[in-house]
Amino acid sequence: MNLVNRVVLVTGANGGLGRQFVNQALQRGASKVYAASRREVPWEDPRVVPLLLDVADPEAVAAAASTATDVAVLINNAGVTGAGSLLTSAVQEIRATFETNVFGPLMLVRQFAPILARNGGGAVVNVHSVLSWLAVPGAYSPSKSAFWGLTNSLRLELAAQQTQVLGAHLGYADTPMTAHLTVSKSDPAVIVARILDALESGQSQVLADELTARVHAALPALSTGVRPATTNAESQAS
Ligand SMILES: NC(=O)c1ccc[n+]([C@@H]2O[C@H](COP(=O)([O-])OP(=O)(O)OC[C@H]3O[C@@H](n4cnc5c(N)ncnc54)[C@H](OP(=O)(O)O)[C@@H]3O)[C@@H](O)[C@H]2O)c1
Repeated sequence: MNLVNRVVLVTGANGGLGRQFVNQALQRGASKVYAASRREVPWEDPRVVPLLLDVADPEAVAAAASTATDVAVLINNAGVTGAGSLLTSAVQEIRATFETNVFGPLMLVRQFAPILARNGGGAVVNVHSVLSWLAVPGAYSPSKSAFWGLTNSLRLELAAQQTQVLGAHLGYADTPMTAHLTVSKSDPAVIVARILDALESGQSQVLADELTARVHAALPALSTGVRPATTNAESQAS
């Protein structure tokens, strides 16, 4: 999947990673980028076509697919941190997290799959997280786990039409989503460059930073989500 002369659609295009996807796709030779966002955003480059799109709104997703019929690369980047507690947040807030992080991308893939097929197979990039594998309280990590699972099954279903499906995992990147966190963060430009390198070299999964690579390497040993974490004393005793 070479981006030269390709038409790309990026969801959440006004966000920290989203802007990088738009600009770097253009730098790599994309002929047009649909920059999809929930509100109107000015773009200077004439190759950028703004598209109003709330990914959690199935009618808006269908409308986007009826407009953007030349898309060859769909980048499901939009996402929310969402509900802070599975026990005490409003159920509606938990559902809304899954609508944006899971069902929205699914609806996009369903609507755009025939378009990608007509445009040579193309590619889907789904932006997961290191928290697809590590559980933290709240709706975000289970939604990103579900998204990861969705990607893996979609890859099987889309293989027949030669659509490349790339799952991207990353830890903390320096974007508005993590602005409130005082942790070490990656440069979003570097993260997106690694994701697009993986796309262009035909990969199905990319571990976009060192933290993610370390967690992935440790996955066989991790018990998180299977049984409660033990205290130091308990683990020394066992
Ligand atoms: N930053 C990190 O550390 C990190 C780590 C792992 C994974 N990720 C993932 O990377 C992706 C991009 O996040 P980011 O870091 O760039 O955060 P960001 O700057 O907050 O951007 C998120 C984008 O998603 C959009 N969005 C949220 N809900 C939407 C909806 N229902 N419909 C359409 N757009 C919606 C936001 O639009 P509004 O401006 O309208 O809210 C914003 O443009 C997300 O999927 C996130 O989960 C980020």
